[in-house]
Amino acid sequence: RQKIILDVDTGIDDALAMTYAIRSPELAVLGITTCFGNVTVHEAARNSLLVLEQLDAEHIPVFLGANQPLFRPSLKAKAVSIHGEDGLGDTGLSEPLGSPASQSAASFIVEQARKYPHEVTVVAVGAMTNLALAIMQDPEAMYLLKRVVIMGGAVTVPGNVTPQAEANMYADPEAAEFLFRSGIPVTMVGLDVTLQTLLPRAEIAKWREQGTKLGQFLANITEFYINAYSQFYPGIRGCALHDPLAIGVVIDTTFVKTQPLHVQVDCEGLYSVGRTIADRRSKPDHSPNVDVCLEVDADRFLAHFLERVAR
Ligand code: BDR
Ligand code: CA
Repeated sequence: RQKIILDVDTGIDDALAMTYAIRSPELAVLGITTCFGNVTVHEAARNSLLVLEQLDAEHIPVFLGANQPLFRPSLKAKAVSIHGEDGLGDTGLSEPLGSPASQSAASFIVEQARKYPHEVTVVAVGAMTNLALAIMQDPEAMYLLKRVVIMGGAVTVPGNVTPQAEANMYADPEAAEFLFRSGIPVTMVGLDVTLQTLLPRAEIAKWREQGTKLGQFLANITEFYINAYSQFYPGIRGCALHDPLAIGVVIDTTFVKTQPLHVQVDCEGLYSVGRTIADRRSKPDHSPNVDVCLEVDADRFLAHFLERVAR
């Protein structure tokens, strides 16, 4: 089984990604590390613990990470309109029974990288701040990671949180740029592909009809998310499975086609802070630092995701 650490800002699609990962026998989830983004880091940890309880997976530890960007005041407010005030669609969930571990997210990542050299993939689906902190803490350990797979950025399409920037990049542009410059192998699962992997509304009804505890939970939270999508993207045929696609790419790399490109994150632009700029010229100035997903087999991925999550 592939060992992964899932770094989240839980968030409804983060919760779906956790579910997909934990219910996939190809993966061993070593821990959940949390970061600010859709919600505060404390809310992300609380939500992650709640999701683990729904999955009967309380044995997986949850770690607190960064609650703000590395170097700047937060640009991005909580994503209340997409994920709700509580981050899980405001469905009246009670507090979790468990609590986060005492170790920090960054030190857990570093520890696991050293414990299992070249075996651990970090899947980061929030701001890249915990990864940047881990690199600062122990760069040599971070070169022992197998790979980092991130959900974030947009190379061929507009941003979502600003005209240029995708939310996870905008949350902490310097952290993402630091990761991209580090030399650690990175796969970028950005809006280029995640806006093509849509969950149709009919599938949410099927989750509810299952009558299981998990089916009810997923249907309740995802209903808020799909309603937000129909409001913000008129005419869209579902809600985007951003964070689940990053898990899908770890399970089966053939869901996507990637291109190695040199990618930088704009940290200063007046209108373009958080933009991922990929050098797609025939003769780029620098060698590639990121494998960018540019195409996705959306139908095959969706079928796989549904089979795992709804089983
Ligand atoms: C990303 O931003 C967050 O709102 C989602 O959870 C996802 O990680 C999409 O831009
Ligand atoms: Ca997320």
